[in-house]
Amino acid sequence: MGKTFKRTTVTSALPYANGPVHIGHLAGVYVPADIYVRYLRLKGRDVLFIGGSDEHGVPVTIRARKEGITVQEVVDRYHNLIKQSFQDFGISFDIYSRTTSATHHKLASDFFRKLYDDGKFIEQVTEQFYDEQTGRFLTDRNIRGECPRCHAPEAYGDQCEKCGATLSPEELINPYNAETGNPLVKKATKHWYLPLDKDQQWLENWILKDHKEWRSNVYGQCKSWLDGGLRPRAVTRDLDWGIPVPVQGAEGKVLYVWFDAPIGYISNTKELCDAHPELGSWETWWKDPETRLVHFIGKDNIVFHCIVFPAMLKAHGEYILPDNVPSNEFLNLEGNKISTSKNYAVWLNEYLQDMPGRQDELRYVLTANAPETKDNDFTWADYQARCNNELVAVYGNFVNRALQLTQKYYEGRVPACGELNDYDRATLDEFRGVKERLEDLLENFRFRDAQKEAMNLARIGNKYIADCEPWKIIKTAPQRVKTIINISLQLTANLAIAFEPFLPFSSQRLRTMLAMDSFSWEDLGSTSLMHEGHQLPQPQLLFTKVEDEAIQAQVQKLQDTLQANALAEYKAEPVKPNIPFEDFEKLDIRVGIVKTCEKIKKSKKLLKFTLDDGSGQDRTILSGIAQWYEPHQLIGKRVLFVANLAPRQIMGETSCGMILSAVNYNGDLSVTTTLDDVRGGSQVG
Ligand code: 2FM
Ligand code: ZN
Repeated sequence: MGKTFKRTTVTSALPYANGPVHIGHLAGVYVPADIYVRYLRLKGRDVLFIGGSDEHGVPVTIRARKEGITVQEVVDRYHNLIKQSFQDFGISFDIYSRTTSATHHKLASDFFRKLYDDGKFIEQVTEQFYDEQTGRFLTDRNIRGECPRCHAPEAYGDQCEKCGATLSPEELINPYNAETGNPLVKKATKHWYLPLDKDQQWLENWILKDHKEWRSNVYGQCKSWLDGGLRPRAVTRDLDWGIPVPVQGAEGKVLYVWFDAPIGYISNTKELCDAHPELGSWETWWKDPETRLVHFIGKDNIVFHCIVFPAMLKAHGEYILPDNVPSNEFLNLEGNKISTSKNYAVWLNEYLQDMPGRQDELRYVLTANAPETKDNDFTWADYQARCNNELVAVYGNFVNRALQLTQKYYEGRVPACGELNDYDRATLDEFRGVKERLEDLLENFRFRDAQKEAMNLARIGNKYIADCEPWKIIKTAPQRVKTIINISLQLTANLAIAFEPFLPFSSQRLRTMLAMDSFSWEDLGSTSLMHEGHQLPQPQLLFTKVEDEAIQAQVQKLQDTLQANALAEYKAEPVKPNIPFEDFEKLDIRVGIVKTCEKIKKSKKLLKFTLDDGSGQDRTILSGIAQWYEPHQLIGKRVLFVANLAPRQIMGETSCGMILSAVNYNGDLSVTTTLDDVRGGSQVG
């Protein structure tokens, strides 16, 4: 802590190339990383921002088999899509490469080989689950079976999604191949393990003593791993997709995806530096102790970046270790978990089709609501409120007023600043501290509060111009108005700088509107950025309102997905045991015509019916369907009911029979009716 560094290598988790990227990715990793990097660049620090796709592992192979295409085709498709989305959202990587690159295969392979040659691994033969029909060993995720805890029928080999238990495949009852359904047998296989138990001591010192400044969620997760005692971890797998294990006798085995993926950060740096010698050697960015290494990740990646990867780097011997690992918690979506496999997400490519040009709006909302300390929820209502009440009504409104008044009163030329009064001075004092506060927050990875600080500057400006009401005094005090507009323009120029790391697209637009050609972070807080007589072009609106229809369409899209998923997951209840015909004959099912139907006071569930049952006397039946029908919808309808059910007392009423309804996949009830105009009392059977 407190150490000064010459340069910073910033990495952001390499997303799996098994689907497009969504808002959860952006909020958790890429927007915060981008804000940080943009800030460092503005400060004139030496920094590299490394990204890329994680193209190995099991999920891409599953996707390929499902779609009947090659794995290479899957990773090509998603790598390109993901890369484009990041570019569209202004995630300013110095390189975005991929773990299928030749550079990476060689570097990861050499890394493994060095650890192997130095005797850093242990070899172990274990029994693993094997599908004899496909001739494949299965990874934990590919094995399913009954959960030993809650007995859900389809738990995964590593986790039960129903009860949340962490499992190992051995614990599953009747394990089977998740893809083929084939039963599994145990078969011996050899693998290489990183003996993490031997790293326990130095990791404890390094994390728990030397890195107390890490975010509490990161520190806490590391502590609980360390308290639980580290165990050796296999770094190879029996798979045919990945980087072959570079050891004789390891045919058919590849490096575990979590072994090769973080090395991808190094390979991608090498690829970048090899192509751009002016950046210096890649090794400087990874091996020089004066380089600061920072990993931006999501919380499911903490153990790999804080424990496993550092253990690999240390075992290798030449590398620096991360100085910080700012990890966010998860972002939920309208109260539900985001899920790639269930297609429940706001995909970045689709967002841009639906909301063209609104990159900064999303960046803003995701940072304002970033899951920095706990899981958070993204809702479209909050998105709309923040866009309209903050970006449009505060930031945009202030800028627009300042620029429009400059056009109106001075033909777009910056007026001279006259003598300041006490209110002017108080306003300027308030925003002079912004730079220091912003820097302090950004250096400490507190992006949410930092963005709030920038927005506060806009609030100060908005209040200033509203309080001064220059439009009321333009005739009576023209000199005073010049000063007010001058100060407002200085504030506007400051906003372009302060928001640059957060909202790069709108900052660029604002700089154009200010014809601001010199631009430096160090100017932040200055009150002499806009010089007298400087000509401004015609302004445009910085932000526009998000309309209700656009929001409703997005909410509807998510609801449609939830419904489609519920339908896809629905399985009809098993049929009850057979009964003899005589038992069926005991039931007297009839048609009744609904004469009256009304709600029952004090009950949310019950409707009270009187039926014409053909007997000439009204029959009363109470039915628990109030949630699904308004009484008037059913009057005059022909419904089916059980006529010989013994009468029952329900809430002080006698119910004589039962109206039949069908239960939908999601528990909704729908009353069964007849198609033709059969008479009341007709028997069904
Ligand atoms: O969780 C994930 O999406 C992983 N693909 C992250 C890998 S990060 C790094 F190690 F490359
Ligand atoms: Zn379970």
